[in-house]
Amino acid sequence: MKILRDVSQLGYLNQLRSEGALVLVPTMGALHEGHLSLVKQGATLGPAVVSIFVNPTQFGPSEDFDSYPRDLESDLALLEPLGVSAVFAPDVKDMYGRDGEVTVQPGSRGLGLCGADRPGHFAGVLTVVAKLFGLLQPDIAIFGRKDAQQCLVIRQMVEDLKMPVRLIDGITVREPDGLAMSSRNRYLDPAQRKQALCLSQALNQAENLMRQGERSSEDLTSAMLDVLAEADAVEYAEIRSVPDLEITPTVDGMTVLAVAAKVGPARLIDNLVLNLEGSQVSPGYLLGT
Ligand code: PAJ
Repeated sequence: MKILRDVSQLGYLNQLRSEGALVLVPTMGALHEGHLSLVKQGATLGPAVVSIFVNPTQFGPSEDFDSYPRDLESDLALLEPLGVSAVFAPDVKDMYGRDGEVTVQPGSRGLGLCGADRPGHFAGVLTVVAKLFGLLQPDIAIFGRKDAQQCLVIRQMVEDLKMPVRLIDGITVREPDGLAMSSRNRYLDPAQRKQALCLSQALNQAENLMRQGERSSEDLTSAMLDVLAEADAVEYAEIRSVPDLEITPTVDGMTVLAVAAKVGPARLIDNLVLNLEGSQVSPGYLLGT
């Protein structure tokens, strides 16, 4: 596993490219089993490169950029046994050079949900992902469905800007009790950790109602809100169409149930991508593969 600490070392990737389709798994580090599942999936498809970069431009001024967990040594130890070919862990100055530089703005899919609560967040995500695509030129890039809106916003960028990369989404990895794995779960104390279960439980509640035939977005939303009342503050509970993330009064096709809430110091998100029958759609669907 080659460790690439700056842009001048990226020539090494040309060697990997001759071994097969170059696969990129972008991350911000503080790796957990959710990240590792994407990496394992990636390593089966070709030489895999994992990027580790806590991207300042996707954090708002009052968010956790400074306190975001960083531990490159233990991340590398987790990646080492997984057959990863290279890790790209650049500095901020390698990724962002000058004031007033070009950024990538999300299309309509970036407006609601996390886009409404975190102004500028998706422009930060798209800008850094576009930079990573430009620098590493992967054939395939893998993203987690845990961040469903992020997946769909990136898909729209790749389609609209005609970027030559194939996107694949991986399923959300959960703790045994249902909590979606997240680097931010580290912020929770034991009581908050229990409280945080209300996100996945809210989604399961609405999923069960959908299986029983409920199609009213309003009723599904209020069922989610009832369960989410456990959280310290609810940011959103919404039903949106896939892939365009439109609001519809009744569920009439592929749908994402999405929630965001504050628990203690952590802002947590979770979602389920369901078909009309209320069953989870297979991996790869969200990114159109
Ligand atoms: P980060 O939060 O580190 O997540 C990296 C990748 O892991 C993302 O594609 C995310 O969706 C996926 N992931 C996170 N939790 C997961 C889980 N429980 N199960 C499966 N996959 C999971 O997302 C980002 O970083 C950044 O926005 C990034 C795309 C790297 C751009 O900076």
